Amino acid sequence: MRTVEVDPARPSGEVLAEAGKIIRRGGLVAFPTETVYGLGGNALDDAAVRRIFAAKGRPSFNPLIAHVIDVDAARALAVRWPAVAERLAERFWPGPLTLVVAKRVDVPDVLTAGLPAVAIRAPAHPVARGLIEAAGVPVAAPSANRFTELSPTTALHVQKALGGRVDLILDGGPTSVGIESTVIDLSGPVPTLLRHGSIARSDIEAVAGELALGAEGEGEEPRLGPGMVKRHYSPRARLHLFARGDVPALTTTAAEATSRGLRVGAVLRLAPDPPGARVVRMPTDPAGYARVLYAALHQMDDLGCDLILMDAVPDAPEWAGIRDRLRRAADQP
Ligand code: TXA
Ligand code: MG
Repeated sequence: MRTVEVDPARPSGEVLAEAGKIIRRGGLVAFPTETVYGLGGNALDDAAVRRIFAAKGRPSFNPLIAHVIDVDAARALAVRWPAVAERLAERFWPGPLTLVVAKRVDVPDVLTAGLPAVAIRAPAHPVARGLIEAAGVPVAAPSANRFTELSPTTALHVQKALGGRVDLILDGGPTSVGIESTVIDLSGPVPTLLRHGSIARSDIEAVAGELALGAEGEGEEPRLGPGMVKRHYSPRARLHLFARGDVPALTTTAAEATSRGLRVGAVLRLAPDPPGARVVRMPTDPAGYARVLYAALHQMDDLGCDLILMDAVPDAPEWAGIRDRLRRAADQP
């Protein structure tokens, strides 16, 4: 395994060519996208896709996203490219939006975990785009972490999680969005939101019409996509989320845990520093918060914290993607 630094805005053509060659030969390359780092392999090569699942320790029922350069390359994977996909791609690609559409027969079943639909995204990050172009094939890439663990937003996070399981890591510095793409299923009769991301739901609905949230329907918890497990995006430490304004409970919990000899971390937006805890201060705006969220949790794990205390974020729509990740990372009530 080798890590090579690349200029995130203008990556070296030589490095990209080498990375592309590794992908074409069936190897794995970790690379930055604007959301999180991906673990890339040739999406059309069964063996390469299996290698990705193995490196992540991911169960085979959890499908992968194929990363493409543009709408034409997306269409080449789809049996139908609905008008709503065209409009969404035009508005949000390249960018942090993944579209699920009915797949062509030649798209490997291992990629889609046997589903008849494939998830496709055209990322905006110059390194991701350069890699896809150099590879000359769609690049399958889940987040470059072990199954259920924290997603990586730096090359170092990838190194720690996947170490020798990847042939090359392209280090383009920290990612800018910080949480994974929004996933919308367009393979059924109504567009359905499967995973919140950084794009406001209202902005998507302005283009796609009202989005279904699936079975649960209530509130903002979308129907779980295939393989989307409730506990996910998790640090090693236990994570407690406190209702906003519940400073007394946060303070008491910190004091009790510290007195029992536990190492306590706190990742806080507004609550005051609790006694005895290592504190990371978070930005108060959603974009800034998302950008550093995973890095803050990785840092808590690196400090060897047993318990992480966090204060809940606002209920406003622009925090939906963050609320979803916090809910999955936290201990279930
Ligand atoms: O931002 C992102 O999306 C990052 C970067 C690397 O692009 N990738 C990422 O991949 O988060 P991953 O594998 O960790 O998450 C992909 C999600 C899965 O939770 C899965 O449920 C959904 O996309 N998905 C993939 N294929 C699908 C399909 N055929 N039908 C429905 N959902 C699918
Ligand atoms: Mg993931």
